[in-house]
Amino acid sequence: MVELPRRRFLSSAPVFLGGASILSACAPGAESQGVEAVAAQTRLAGADVDVAGRPAVRPAVGPAVRPAVRTEGNPDGSREVSPADLALGLELVRYATLAPSSHNTQCWKFAIESAAITILPDPLRRCPAVDPDDHHVFVSLGCATENLIHAAWAHGRSAEAVFDRSREAIRVTLAPTQAAASPLFRAIAARQCTRDDYDSQPLSIEELGLLERAGTSDDVRILLITGRPAMERVLDFVVQANTAQMADAAFVKELKSWIRFNGAAARRTGDGLYSATTGHPTIPTWLGELAFGWFFTPKSENDKVAGQLRSSAGIAVFVGKSADKASWVDVGRCYERFALQATALGIRNALLNQPIEVRAVRPQFAAAIGLPGQRPDLVVRFGRGPVMPSSLRRTVQDVLV
Ligand SMILES: Cc1cc2nc3c(=O)[nH]c(=O)nc-3n(C[C@H](O)[C@H](O)[C@H](O)COP(=O)(O)O)c2cc1C
Repeated sequence: MVELPRRRFLSSAPVFLGGASILSACAPGAESQGVEAVAAQTRLAGADVDVAGRPAVRPAVGPAVRPAVRTEGNPDGSREVSPADLALGLELVRYATLAPSSHNTQCWKFAIESAAITILPDPLRRCPAVDPDDHHVFVSLGCATENLIHAAWAHGRSAEAVFDRSREAIRVTLAPTQAAASPLFRAIAARQCTRDDYDSQPLSIEELGLLERAGTSDDVRILLITGRPAMERVLDFVVQANTAQMADAAFVKELKSWIRFNGAAARRTGDGLYSATTGHPTIPTWLGELAFGWFFTPKSENDKVAGQLRSSAGIAVFVGKSADKASWVDVGRCYERFALQATALGIRNALLNQPIEVRAVRPQFAAAIGLPGQRPDLVVRFGRGPVMPSSLRRTVQDVLV
């Protein structure tokens, strides 16, 4: 998906519109600080307010917030969730929602039971243009699953995730254990997709080894590409696919619908792609919608992508063992572990998925990176760089079934 083009569009807007006068009134300043404060509260344990500034769902509220659906009864035959289990469940769901999701759609729903949490896709938050087969939806659910598991351990629960093919949902069963807050758990609140140039410096062998281990499982492989000629070949495919996406009216329309051009819009929805996360001025929604098409040009976007990729230390390509929903969840879990491990090491990452999103490009891309006949799942660049503003999240209440 081309979230990067947005950045070029925003950076070009002041020039086209005749200087700073229009945008100076809309400069991020206090507005962005307000959004950042809300984002920080969402990421703090026991936050007092939600992303819309309303009192947040606190673990302590217990029975006042009852999940509507519990898929299975308790061991004693009842279907009640105790206040303590509900409080814990709400807190674990909060951590899960800090995961990445395609276009920040937050395409998940959670059902809290007494000793389990089920993570379901939210069909209202699909993106049919960029993700017609729901690949990104299930990868996103995998990312949320991984966060939930690390949070569970930190809160004294072992967690085992199983994909339920009949319901197309992930059921995470919880059991008491010794609490252990892993470095990956501690990285959950700080993790972000950092869409800026990095510092072009290579990572050490040890760092690459840690990232590779974090992003690999029995069923998911990761290819680390750090040689410059090989990275240039990947860039060729990114540019080719980016150009195709920008010529696709349905793709552009869908992308635009998820962009939040200013802090007020971002806070109102608590989702979507807030412009400041790419480090650019915020502008009124009417202006953003009007001007978006003027600056959404293949050349400027491809130049931007090239700069970002060339400033990276390397590229990681994730590939699951099969092209089905269970495997996509596994890929999401591995990517999230990779991202959390990177965050723990002070390393940034961002997705450049264009070559796996455009069907016509995907097979050639797979063959070029040594995976003929397979479906690469994610393309991620990584390296050291600045921290960018945070994206927002909806409330925990919003994501309960
Ligand atoms: C399956 C998936 C695909 C994504 N594809 C892209 C992409 O192609 N380009 C991009 O800039 N970000 C991509 N993202 C990142 C999301 O836009 C990002 O997670 C979301 O905006 C929330 O921001 P955060 O990760 O910083 O919390 C993707 C995320 C997921 C889970």
